[in-house]
Amino acid sequence: MLKMDELRKILKADKWLEWETLRTHQKQKKDPPPLQKPVEDESKIISLPDLEKFQIRENNLAAIISARRSHRKFTGGALSLDELGFLLWSTQGIQKVVGNQGANLRTVPSGGGRHPFETYLVVFNVKDLPAGIYRYIPLSHALLPLQQKQNVTTTDMKNVCRNQPYFRDASVVFVWSCIPYRTFWRYSDLATKVIAQDSGHLCQNLYLASTAIGAGTCAIGAYYQEEMDNMLDLDGEEEFVIYLAPVGRIDMTKILDHDDVFHKKYST
Ligand SMILES: Cc1cc2nc3c(=O)[nH]c(=O)nc-3n(C[C@H](O)[C@H](O)[C@H](O)COP(=O)(O)O)c2cc1C
Repeated sequence: MLKMDELRKILKADKWLEWETLRTHQKQKKDPPPLQKPVEDESKIISLPDLEKFQIRENNLAAIISARRSHRKFTGGALSLDELGFLLWSTQGIQKVVGNQGANLRTVPSGGGRHPFETYLVVFNVKDLPAGIYRYIPLSHALLPLQQKQNVTTTDMKNVCRNQPYFRDASVVFVWSCIPYRTFWRYSDLATKVIAQDSGHLCQNLYLASTAIGAGTCAIGAYYQEEMDNMLDLDGEEEFVIYLAPVGRIDMTKILDHDDVFHKKYST
């Protein structure tokens, strides 16, 4: 078990005192890792709709922030491909590639612009997109179907997430993996804290963007690591799942409803 003093060491910023002397791979002039995984078969890529034509349902930022809530019950309605594209862009969309060392600017911040995440989608109910598993290709704002994994069910998701039943009527599940070397290359021992900080931004933008389109989401940190990695064919070393979140249509009359099962459980 992790001892409290080890936990403190990870969370504190003391390692920055060693920054000048840290022999990071970047300082050693090692090749930087690519900013996204290679696309195995370009012919399979599905372009997402043009974002500029997308009309957001709610664009008052203060209203969106004040309505943000974790939602675990969905109505079962579908998302459109435009909406899905908007959620993907909001969470990992690339705005600019800086230089040739893998640094890039996205709609979320990331320490050193390293962006150590990949986005996988388990699609259940999105118009004009067959159910199955996809990987987001941020440089092209497109999806790559992972053909071998077409049969994941909402029950599979429940099982892999420690029996949490919140996937039943979800339209899609965002599953974020982490490729720690992208951040380690620049930050060495500091990478643990940086990656943990980075991952929160992904999910917060998913919350806000979902609220803006009349959908809901819930951060899920509790899942079985190996089973989740196997579902996506990840090796569990160079790349592994770090966070996930189901997204679905919600009953808008209950948007600020605090009485869901989870809150009852934790308020007593
Ligand atoms: C890192 C993290 C992990 C979480 N993991 C779970 C989870 O596994 N299951 C769950 O039901 N909620 C999970 N949540 C959601 C929290 O329970 C939720 O944010 C909290 O109850 C506060 O409710 P609110 O988001 O509506 O303000 C997680 C939230 C965060 C930030």
